[in-house]
Amino acid sequence: MVLPVFCSLLAIALGTRYAEATVISTLDDLVDKSLDFVVIGAGAGGGVIANRLTENPDVSVLLIEAGGSNEGVLDVAAPGLDSFLINSAWDWNFTSTPQIALNNRTLAVSRGFILGGTTSINQMVYTRGSSEDYDLWANMTDDEGWSWDNLQKYIRKNEKFTPPVDHHNTTGQFDPNVHSFDGIVSVSLQGFPNGIDNRTIRTTSELSEEFPFNLDMNSGFQLGIGWVQATIGDGTRSSSAASYLGRSFISRPNLHVLLNTRVLRVLKTDHQQSDFRSVEFTQDAGVTTHTITASKELIIAAGTIMTPHILMHSGIGDSEELKSLGIQTVHHLPSVGKNLTEQPIVRNKWLVDSTDTLETIARNDTLLAEVTEEWERRRMGPIVDPPLSFIGWLRLPENSSIFQQVLDPAAGPNTSHYELIITNGALSHPAPATGNFLTFSTSVSSPTSRGSISLNSSNPLEYPLINFNLFNTSFDRFVVREAYRNTKKFLAAQSWDGYILAPPTNATTDDELDEYINQNAATENHPVGTAAMSSNSAAYGVVDPDLRVKGLVGLRIVDASVFPRLPAAHTQVPVYIVAERAADLIKDFWGI
Ligand SMILES: Cc1cc2nc3c(=O)[nH]c(=O)nc-3n(C[C@H](O)[C@H](O)[C@H](O)COP(=O)(O)OP(=O)(O)OC[C@H]3O[C@@H](n4cnc5c(N)ncnc54)[C@H](O)[C@@H]3O)c2cc1C
Ligand SMILES: *[C@@H]1O[C@H](CO)[C@@H](O)[C@H](O)[C@H]1NC(C)=O
Ligand SMILES: *[C@@H]1O[C@H](CO)[C@@H](O)[C@H](O)[C@H]1NC(C)=O
Ligand SMILES: *[C@@H]1O[C@H](CO)[C@@H](O)[C@H](O)[C@H]1NC(C)=O
Ligand SMILES: *[C@@H]1O[C@H](CO)[C@@H](O)[C@H](O)[C@H]1NC(C)=O
Ligand SMILES: *[C@@H]1O[C@H](CO)[C@@H](O)[C@H](O)[C@H]1NC(C)=O
Ligand SMILES: *[C@@H]1O[C@H](CO)[C@@H](O)[C@H](O)[C@H]1NC(C)=O
Ligand SMILES: *[C@@H]1O[C@H](CO)[C@@H](O)[C@H](O)[C@H]1NC(C)=O
Ligand SMILES: *[C@@H]1O[C@H](CO)[C@@H](O)[C@H](O)[C@H]1NC(C)=O
Ligand SMILES: *[C@@H]1O[C@H](CO)[C@@H](O)[C@H](O)[C@H]1NC(C)=O
Ligand SMILES: *[C@@H]1O[C@H](CO)[C@@H](O)[C@H](O)[C@H]1NC(C)=O
Ligand SMILES: *[C@@H]1O[C@H](CO)[C@@H](O)[C@H](O)[C@H]1NC(C)=O
Ligand SMILES: *[C@@H]1O[C@H](CO)[C@@H](O)[C@H](O)[C@H]1NC(C)=O
Repeated sequence: MVLPVFCSLLAIALGTRYAEATVISTLDDLVDKSLDFVVIGAGAGGGVIANRLTENPDVSVLLIEAGGSNEGVLDVAAPGLDSFLINSAWDWNFTSTPQIALNNRTLAVSRGFILGGTTSINQMVYTRGSSEDYDLWANMTDDEGWSWDNLQKYIRKNEKFTPPVDHHNTTGQFDPNVHSFDGIVSVSLQGFPNGIDNRTIRTTSELSEEFPFNLDMNSGFQLGIGWVQATIGDGTRSSSAASYLGRSFISRPNLHVLLNTRVLRVLKTDHQQSDFRSVEFTQDAGVTTHTITASKELIIAAGTIMTPHILMHSGIGDSEELKSLGIQTVHHLPSVGKNLTEQPIVRNKWLVDSTDTLETIARNDTLLAEVTEEWERRRMGPIVDPPLSFIGWLRLPENSSIFQQVLDPAAGPNTSHYELIITNGALSHPAPATGNFLTFSTSVSSPTSRGSISLNSSNPLEYPLINFNLFNTSFDRFVVREAYRNTKKFLAAQSWDGYILAPPTNATTDDELDEYINQNAATENHPVGTAAMSSNSAAYGVVDPDLRVKGLVGLRIVDASVFPRLPAAHTQVPVYIVAERAADLIKDFWGI
């Protein structure tokens, strides 16, 4: 058995060691090759499924991940170093197609290429969305199981609220009644104060009509401005790798984790008509390929970009499109890759009169080394948090002119149209050479534009074409303009007197703002919907309300691609919630 050799190599390379490593390097390392389930992708969705199914020691699971281990990676573990992860060895580094509504600019698309998937490289913001978002899911899927009330159990299984590292008094910063203290993923309020916190709080009382304070945006009622909750515990990132695949779980003898392994396709098992329980993968960029079959199910959890990619390469998709690429259709399912939905964001940077901002650390290697050492030594200091402490969820006014043209697309009257993110510094890496900034990002939380994932060739190792079709609708553009105008009102409050030196742009008219948006809009990295769930009777959709691929047997999808609609939220928590329920659906189905 090669396992011990691999473990010691791993230990040397990363300075750590799994208790009883079940991380294997090749299929030959599997002592018992009979597997009940194979899970493809170890991100938010895959981590939950692998963990929950192996709670039963009689159930064996193989978890396959394209990237490597998260163990010992400093930039992943220390929350404040997250900007170093973009375009790093742990990022897939996808790029969008030219976006027509943005002067044909292409946009960077980050996704985690590592155990934990995108939860290992994200910004850790913990948001659930509004209760109306989930009630609409229940309506769209005709399954009450997806309603806000019925999902509470899963929200609670996922979350473990913990005190911030500086042990400040958190009364008035969140509502303990809507949180769980005994789940799996650690969640906490900021552990190091930010220079702009008091000004922000004061603005919510000064301009309480337009920018009310919300004690807890995760209560189901999200509107207003509130303190950020983040997936962090003890000043350290709590990714799906660090939590669901943490040491006590990954050492389970019935859980096998195959890293650095790229899944190419899912295959029909034997000659059964619709039975898809086999998976083809490579560990050497396609030089050799291997196949393994699950006795019960395959669960695809490769995320919104790669899940439809794997399906289409397997012949599951729109038959006309597949034919044009020379891929034989095995199962005609035209919604695969369609309805891609993303939140466009503009990161508005105001020049400020302060040195107490992120740039002061980011531009000074000596200081960065000092704060990193403080983090390593005692998990304290400025890098215990991601670089933001407040976010807001707001609506356009009811009499807004856009509603003469379009119906309100938000999930309900208490769901936001746009999000504000207040950051004590510039978010770019490297930091701007001079100046100190406040970044007040504006994004469309209930966007109406839809794009798609499609294939560029029949080679599964090539990246797919990612077209978000951002700002395809006048609504999305209207929202971003109004959101920007509102940030100016926010910063005109007395609390900011003397702080702001210059705005990010002098644009004021719609046309001027559009040009500014075209030059600056990006994606918020929250793509969903490319293998969408729909009701059993719907004429569209990819999976049924139990997340089984429609028309096939043995194949389920559990990741952000199944969202029937994008909630007004950052997307990791919605994925965790979906996956916690999915684990129960799978257990119930198999009686395990
Ligand atoms: C920069 C950034 C910041 C973000 N910030 C936040 C935030 O603050 N809060 C928040 O809630 N959300 C945030 N998100 C989004 C959030 O992390 C994702 O929505 C969430 O992780 C999606 O979960 P998933 O299971 O669908 O996919 P992922 O977590 O992406 O997992 C998919 C996994 O599948 C693997 N995989 C893919 N293809 C293959 C293949 N062919 N073979 C084998 N393995 C494969 C991938 O390597 C990956 O590990 C952010 C995302 C990014 C990129
Ligand atoms: C992403 O880009 C970085 C920097 O160029 C590179 O080191 C890394 O290998 C790339 N990721 C992948 C998955 O290829
Ligand atoms: C964007 O590209 C399309 C197709 O190539 C072209 O028709 C259009 O004129 C371009 N738009 C801009 C603003 O350059
Ligand atoms: C969904 O909501 C619409 C509008 O309120 C209603 O007519 C319809 O019956 C609902 N469908 C289900 C399945 O609940
Ligand atoms: C925290 O602050 C609240 C009021 O802001 C106060 O009532 C409470 O006693 C404080 N708790 C501690 C432990 O100091
Ligand atoms: C913010 O206000 C609190 C109480 O009013 C005060 O204790 C704290 O020092 C202030 N923080 C900053 C960064 O000014
Ligand atoms: C996209 O989703 C909508 C529901 O939001 C649905 O009506 C439509 O049919 C879907 N399109 C495809 C191609 O699946
Ligand atoms: C960089 O940080 C060090 C350590 O805190 C400090 O002594 C030095 O003055 C800083 N340099 C600049 C240019 O601010
Ligand atoms: C909407 O109503 C507000 C106050 O009721 C008013 O000030 C504003 O001008 C109205 N806007 C439009 C577009 O009618
Ligand atoms: C919106 O939220 C408020 C405050 O919780 C509540 O009073 C109101 O009933 C909600 N409206 C709807 C339509 O649910
Ligand atoms: C798609 O294929 C063309 C032709 O081979 C190539 O030039 C282009 O770079 C590919 N696009 C992507 C996104 O890989
Ligand atoms: C909107 O999307 C459609 C279909 O993808 C495209 O034909 C059209 O040019 C787009 N319009 C804008 C303004 O982006
Ligand atoms: C805004 O206008 C002022 C005064 O003309 C100019 O100094 C500044 O550079 C402009 N700002 C931007 C972002 O263009």
